[in-house]
Amino acid sequence: MKIRKAIIPAAGLGTRVLPASKSIPKEMLNIVDKPAIQYIVEEAVEAGIEEILIITNRGKGAIEDHFDHSFELEANLKNNPSKKKIYDDILKPVHMANIYFLRQKETNGLADAIAKTRHFIGNEPFAILYGDDVITNKGGKPVIGQLMEAYEKYEKGVVGVKEVPRKDVSKYCSLDVKPLEGRLMECFNIIEKPTEDQIISCYSILGRVVMPPEIFDIIDNTPVNEKAGEVYFTDSMVLLAKKLGLLALDFEGTRYDMGNKLGIMKANCEFALDHDEIGEDFKNYIKELAKTL
Ligand code: UTP
Repeated sequence: MKIRKAIIPAAGLGTRVLPASKSIPKEMLNIVDKPAIQYIVEEAVEAGIEEILIITNRGKGAIEDHFDHSFELEANLKNNPSKKKIYDDILKPVHMANIYFLRQKETNGLADAIAKTRHFIGNEPFAILYGDDVITNKGGKPVIGQLMEAYEKYEKGVVGVKEVPRKDVSKYCSLDVKPLEGRLMECFNIIEKPTEDQIISCYSILGRVVMPPEIFDIIDNTPVNEKAGEVYFTDSMVLLAKKLGLLALDFEGTRYDMGNKLGIMKANCEFALDHDEIGEDFKNYIKELAKTL
């Protein structure tokens, strides 16, 4: 079945990037000249997604404003021929896709955020793009599109994975996988935030997932993780793996974690080097700077 809908959970507290994220949602932190979440919406649209639901919470109204008209600004820029490009740029996010918003009233974790989208999704498979993970695949297929293709072929949930350095696995999760075809694997188990002796492999889920609609009933029946006080989405995915099967795709692309300070700096640096307007100047600046290090 073709995947048409996506959700972008963006209701997390962003504690790892405080104080920047105190009054500005971390999803709105910029990468050169666009907020992180715009890159994520662009990825979904490029993959053919038609309807996007962004999950926000109190204090994240700036996300809604970004995808809406700004009449005063538009009126001002519209009549100024020298600002034509800026005018076009600010209208892009407004017309990009059908974007809807839903508030997660309490920050009860990712599984709870996803559970809230059941009525929007209905009875069809859907994509999930984590609001703080910007993932690019320069010149290639958008990463969520790679997962959608795998889902459409096998009709099984798919998680986007990468091998992470062993010392970092404990920050993410560890997957029990077996090769299936090309970059695709079967996934049998996932350990969330494993201790060293619990690590099964260095494959971790990084920000992109495609789920069948059955995941909603599964989330409702997943026991709360006692230590975390919330349902772990990975626990629901393990139940899905046991019931209907689950695939893991070692996707082609580079992921930037906008939920952590180093990730934000890497994204800005690499996107700036590639930028039409400032790329050359920035490269020269970096070269000069590197000499002083
Ligand atoms: P994270 O755990 O990376 O985000 O959740 P966080 O909670 O903001 O991180 P800290 O506070 O820096 O540790 C992964 C994704 O799930 C969303 C987040 O916004 C992020 O995109 N999320 C998380 C929700 O939408 N709701 C939640 O209750 C928790």
